[in-house]
Amino acid sequence: MLNVALRVGLLLCAGIVMSYAMGRGCSSYAFRVSTTHVMPLAHQQETQQQVQQVAASALISEVAYMPVHIPSGARPIRDTLLSVLWSGDEPLAYAREEYIDGGYPHTYLKPELIATLLNHTRTSFWLEMGSFLGGSAIRTATAVKQAGLPTTVVCVDPFTGDVNMWAWEQEKKAKGEWPFLQLQRGRPTVYDRFLANVVNAKVEDVVVPILASSLVGMKLIERLIEEKRLSMAPQVMYLDSAHEKDETLLELQNAWRLLPPGGVLFGDDWPWAGVRIDVQIFAAGLSGGTDAGAPAAINTGLASKIQAALPGAAMEGNVLLYEGQWMLFKP
Ligand SMILES: C[S@@+](CC[C@H](N)C(=O)[O-])C[C@H]1O[C@@H](n2cnc3c(N)ncnc32)[C@H](O)[C@@H]1O
Repeated sequence: MLNVALRVGLLLCAGIVMSYAMGRGCSSYAFRVSTTHVMPLAHQQETQQQVQQVAASALISEVAYMPVHIPSGARPIRDTLLSVLWSGDEPLAYAREEYIDGGYPHTYLKPELIATLLNHTRTSFWLEMGSFLGGSAIRTATAVKQAGLPTTVVCVDPFTGDVNMWAWEQEKKAKGEWPFLQLQRGRPTVYDRFLANVVNAKVEDVVVPILASSLVGMKLIERLIEEKRLSMAPQVMYLDSAHEKDETLLELQNAWRLLPPGGVLFGDDWPWAGVRIDVQIFAAGLSGGTDAGAPAAINTGLASKIQAALPGAAMEGNVLLYEGQWMLFKP
């Protein structure tokens, strides 16, 4: 009983301190009281004096968020999602400088490929699935700004890593190598590092993250469109997420359904067997035929234009390949 009473008392003290801090009307800082430092000390023999000492040492941490510049009205998809999903509580406003992390060198998405796709689609909605620390999203958003387009880059990722990242984490740490997940209190810090990297690259006005799996993200977008809460589907979709066989096939099926005619579905890691096999199975199953009136399997016109713009790009069946990336064009 005493134990419980002590904890309640301490939480009340913490609450008073927090109310005071919030009453100061801070705009760019949030004051948070951590009660974790209080918990282990409660014991039957504790005196009132001990309780007061513990209360005094309760950690009051000042959390500074990075300044952001996100004008409204410039990117309709971003504005809509911010309102519909967060009621205006901007996710990028919670980026913290201490999480900036340039340790991930594996963004294979080439700037010339992004520029070509933007140029030929002029899309205002680019959906990326699998964003990790923001490497490919930042590259895309930078190209969007250079092209002067009103495009929003929506990043769908649970930000909890993939199978390899979890399997390798402790071994990498033990070897002194850069670990992917960088766990804190049992959870990956991928999302914190994504936010910090995006703001650090000054593309927070283009990018918006949705913490969800690719399937949840795509079904959510589909639902919002059905309910007329979102005006359009993404004309370009970039898949760099599960990397697992069968799960990739499911992602492709859902993505193709969501993609409007004339849209592009493309992704990373063609050399990766789990990805390549599922893309090949999916592409081979696309309807198409020589009968008059039969729908074409892919949009060959757009495929040819993109191929012509990218020296070294080559068709393999229905799939256009370029520098480890695969592309499918919806007719
Ligand atoms: C290879 S990283 C992405 C790298 C990023 N595109 C880049 O180039 O910088 C894979 C990411 O996919 C995410 N992921 C894994 N399974 C996923 C799923 N089912 N849906 C969405 N994202 C997933 C992981 O959390 C991880 O952040």
